[in-house]
Amino acid sequence: MPPNGASSRGCDTVAMGVEYVTSAAMVEPEQLVGGFFEGWATPLSADEHLGLLRAATHTVVGVEDGQVVGFVTALSDGVLSAYIPLLEVRPDWRHRGVGTELVRRVLIEVGPLYMVDVMCDADVFGFYERLGFHPSTGGVLRNYDWRAGIEGTE
Ligand SMILES: CC(C)(COP(=O)(O)OP(=O)(O)OC[C@H]1O[C@@H](n2cnc3c(N)ncnc32)[C@H](O)[C@@H]1OP(=O)(O)O)[C@@H](O)C(=O)NCCC(=O)NCCS
Repeated sequence: MPPNGASSRGCDTVAMGVEYVTSAAMVEPEQLVGGFFEGWATPLSADEHLGLLRAATHTVVGVEDGQVVGFVTALSDGVLSAYIPLLEVRPDWRHRGVGTELVRRVLIEVGPLYMVDVMCDADVFGFYERLGFHPSTGGVLRNYDWRAGIEGTE
């Protein structure tokens, strides 16, 4: 078990009233309501949301009173590198430390890799910088024919 008390996959720990679960295997679609994918022109359905949580190599969800209040996913090659594609805290739960705790825990879950990368809007980068991420240069491909993303980008 990692030294800071975060646990191996599937086990739960609680901080500040939020239970952090390192697997989505026991999450149900009904627990994923409340405004995730804020600002997306076509938000994912709860079933799609659950699908990506279960397909990611690493997932941490924060649960309070039976509802998911935040989640983070990571995709790892298990040797050198991992990517954090999605992190979101429900709007009514922001600024209570949940996002920080989710990232802290998913970094423990992926383990001591050489590189962990994230892409985000410039105005959110300060959140990651506090957690030790450095600014870099990246590139993205987006298939807006398949799904419109953030409003205004299609
Ligand atoms: C970014 C996000 C995950 C932060 O979650 P959170 O639970 O509110 O974060 P925390 O409470 O741990 O924040 C701790 C500190 O990080 C900084 N911070 C939080 N949100 C920030 C943001 N959007 N931009 C810049 N800094 C931010 C603040 O200094 C904050 O301290 P404060 O609450 O005293 O102001 C949340 O705002 C969110 O879900 N946003 C929409 C989705 C998104 O942008 N995801 C990240 C891109 S992949």
